Amino acid sequence: MKTTSKLEAVCRRANDHDVDTLFELIQGYAQKGIMLPRSKEVLKRQIDSFVVAEVEGIVVGCGSLTRLGADLVEIRSLGMTEGYKGLGVGSKLVDSLIAMAKEQKIPKIMALTYAVSFFEKNGFHIVQKEIFPEKVWTDCVNCPKQHACDEIAVLRMID
Ligand SMILES: CC(C)(COP(=O)(O)OP(=O)(O)OC[C@H]1O[C@@H](n2cnc3c(N)ncnc32)[C@H](O)[C@@H]1OP(=O)(O)O)[C@@H](O)C(=O)NCCC(=O)NCCS
Repeated sequence: MKTTSKLEAVCRRANDHDVDTLFELIQGYAQKGIMLPRSKEVLKRQIDSFVVAEVEGIVVGCGSLTRLGADLVEIRSLGMTEGYKGLGVGSKLVDSLIAMAKEQKIPKIMALTYAVSFFEKNGFHIVQKEIFPEKVWTDCVNCPKQHACDEIAVLRMID
């Protein structure tokens, strides 16, 4: 799987060499309360679920896919390096994650996010959080906002 954006960015599956970069990128957003932190150990264990976007060989963005059931996956840890936003690369990462879900024959993809209009531009629509199975919320035990979650749930059907 390789997808190219208008910035000559290439999306590819992550590998063990990306762990440190992924850690720094995610940690930066975790400190701002936008993402949940991921330790290097967890990243290493879950590396197969990550895609990265590269510009001239430098990783400038990432995203991951978590299986939540037979028919549902969640986009997690989606983020771009400052200076590379608004250039279509985040959307390419979403395309790559959708392609990954399609390969696994999963029909539905969701995210919990503050970037609602970004996801709407990528074919998602807002849904009630309550429609999702309990498995969606397992990650929330690690979230400081777990009892006051203000993220919006978005969903897209994969055709
Ligand atoms: C959200 C994010 C991944 C988008 O990546 P990107 O490369 O900037 O996105 P694209 O260039 O493909 O798309 C840009 C469009 O999305 C919209 N958008 C980008 N970030 C947004 C945000 N935080 N909220 C709402 N809309 C957003 C822009 O308005 C833009 O619309 P336009 O094309 O009409 O101008 C990136 O801005 C980012 O890393 N944000 C911080 C982390 C984050 O919020 N991640 C989502 C967690 S699920």
